[in-house]
Amino acid sequence: MSERIISDHADSEDLSLEQHLRPHSFDQYIGQEQVKHNLHIFIEAAKMRKETLDHVLLYGPPGLGKTTLAQIIANEMGGSLRMTSGPAIERPGDLAAILTSVKPADVLFIDEIHRLPRSIEEILYPAMEDFCLDIVVGKGESARSIRIDLPPFTLVGATTRAGALSAPLRDRFGVLSRLEYYTADELKEIILRTAQVLETEIDDEAASEIALRSRGTPRIANRLLKRVRDFAQVKGDGRITVELSTEALDLMQVDQLGLDHIDHKLLKTIIEKFNGGPVGLETIAATIGEEAGTIEDVYEPYLLQIGFLQRTPRGRVVTHAVYNHFQMEVPKK
Ligand SMILES: Nc1ncnc2c1ncn2[C@@H]1O[C@H](COP(=O)(O)OP(=O)(O)OP(=O)(O)O)[C@@H](O)[C@H]1O
Ligand SMILES: [Mg+2]
Repeated sequence: MSERIISDHADSEDLSLEQHLRPHSFDQYIGQEQVKHNLHIFIEAAKMRKETLDHVLLYGPPGLGKTTLAQIIANEMGGSLRMTSGPAIERPGDLAAILTSVKPADVLFIDEIHRLPRSIEEILYPAMEDFCLDIVVGKGESARSIRIDLPPFTLVGATTRAGALSAPLRDRFGVLSRLEYYTADELKEIILRTAQVLETEIDDEAASEIALRSRGTPRIANRLLKRVRDFAQVKGDGRITVELSTEALDLMQVDQLGLDHIDHKLLKTIIEKFNGGPVGLETIAATIGEEAGTIEDVYEPYLLQIGFLQRTPRGRVVTHAVYNHFQMEVPKK
């Protein structure tokens, strides 16, 4: 089967290291206590009944551990993880090829499931509900529908936008889990664990500093740690100290709250060009030269979470906290 449609690998970049860093069991998966606790119970119950786990939808901003969690679910169920993504499945045949190769207890992971074509969604419904596929073969007069029975499997869907999923698809998931941003303490724990995997010495205070600047996101925490580690290697003796971390993070233009230059550009544009808002998403996107979808999925959720941005019916508005953060005066309106 083509690698394009399905693969057993997570990401192509830095694969072996990435695999190494990924927690493999619930014990190693830090934070998301509620989600973990519930999934653990559902998995145990399914195993006791010798059934497959109900389909699971994981949603939340990028980098919070959806793919990792899917892998853990597969491990706990004793099956393997088959990975694909919404945009990779273009034709009914693609989906049929994937589904017929799934073995009992396997977990089929569909990333970006909100980007699945509608025509594919419709074939997925009976597969999710009754473990069977109805597909049309042939054309014109000789066209006929055939039914293929599938082994019971668990579908894990991941999306950054649960709202973009069609209602019939969303309704077919038995478990809906929303991943939240991580606390600084949880991120610190993740950083210390990653440092251990990387065999890098890190001071406690340095781990806290990096955690505070990671935007509540494990992927960012690991990325910053790797860059600070480079810095410590070249500028110091390899040990990550808080001084080195601060210096490196400042140089990388990651501020005290973990905001980067795009966050800054976004906030400052609203302040300087639109007098603090309200201003529409599309207008912001056009002004700063980013895609509206990227702003909505990647940048906005964190800015909303820390109370820097508000969504109003008339558009986005920055809050007083932003003026304080930039040490700017709040304009009189
Ligand atoms: N709870 C956790 N504990 C420790 N490390 C974690 C945790 N969650 C995620 N990570 C690490 O963070 C990185 C990103 O995780 P993952 O790829 O699972 O995110 P994701 O939600 O699938 O992101 P995306 O939406 O961008 O696909 C991985 O390197 C993983 O090792
Ligand atoms: Mg992922």
